[in-house]
Amino acid sequence: MESLKTHIDLQRLPRHIAIIMDGNGRWAREKGQDRLYGHFHGVESVRDIVEGCAELGVEYLTLYAFSTENWDRPAYEVTGLMELLVETIRKETETLNKNNIKLHVIGDMQMLPEYAIKELNESLEMTAANTGLNLIMALSYSSRWELVRAVKQIAQDVENGKIKPELITQDTLEQYLCTSQFPDPELMVRTSGEYRISNFLLYQLAYAELYFTNTRWPDFRKENLYEAILDFQKRERRFGKTSDQLQNDLTLPAN
Ligand code: IPE
Ligand code: IPE
Ligand code: MG
Repeated sequence: MESLKTHIDLQRLPRHIAIIMDGNGRWAREKGQDRLYGHFHGVESVRDIVEGCAELGVEYLTLYAFSTENWDRPAYEVTGLMELLVETIRKETETLNKNNIKLHVIGDMQMLPEYAIKELNESLEMTAANTGLNLIMALSYSSRWELVRAVKQIAQDVENGKIKPELITQDTLEQYLCTSQFPDPELMVRTSGEYRISNFLLYQLAYAELYFTNTRWPDFRKENLYEAILDFQKRERRFGKTSDQLQNDLTLPAN
């Protein structure tokens, strides 16, 4: 079968794709297995999608791997996930380097166990000079945590006289978010048939195109990604304007 990849317009790729990797637990339970078995297989999807994005030339890929709220899951699952995370990072760093992929992490790192922080820092350092795909792992992340943290830091800087409240703009706020170095996602994908954002990039997704699929994360592969990108390319992104305005903008001579 011909790959959907051939239909993608490479000139109009989303620069930044964000994915809520959901459905590992149900995928496993449906097979009569333990939830951790689903997380384990989810890693294969991560590998495939990272590779797919790098091959296409997507510049930023954010993967929601663990939310602030996920700490409230049973200790057995949380520990299993942390071990899987460390093991995967250890194994994959070499491949990231081979493919010129730069790793980033957003989230409340202090919540992670010491051994995970150590492993992450090593991998961040080892991939820091890479110039290809930026792979952003959202770990122990939630948008409300990020926004509260930003507000606290801004308040501190106002108190220290570093910024004046009347000069605060959207740009200022963006500088205090974990994502200050990245453009906003243009496409947000959630797998497993849930239609919600679950505290993910609430500010940054303001104008993202949302794509939901019933496919569980461990079954999500490059072809599914291509399908999401093709769907994205069919849409008209109006940013509050009218369709006519956009058509007129297109017909204006480029200066
Ligand atoms: C997503 O799969 C992975 C994490 C949240 C860590 P889930 O573990 O949420 O799987 P479901 O949604 O229960 O099927
Ligand atoms: C969102 O999935 C978080 C991640 C995928 C890491 P959840 O499974 O935790 O979200 P809810 O509980 O269904 O909203
Ligand atoms: Mg879930």
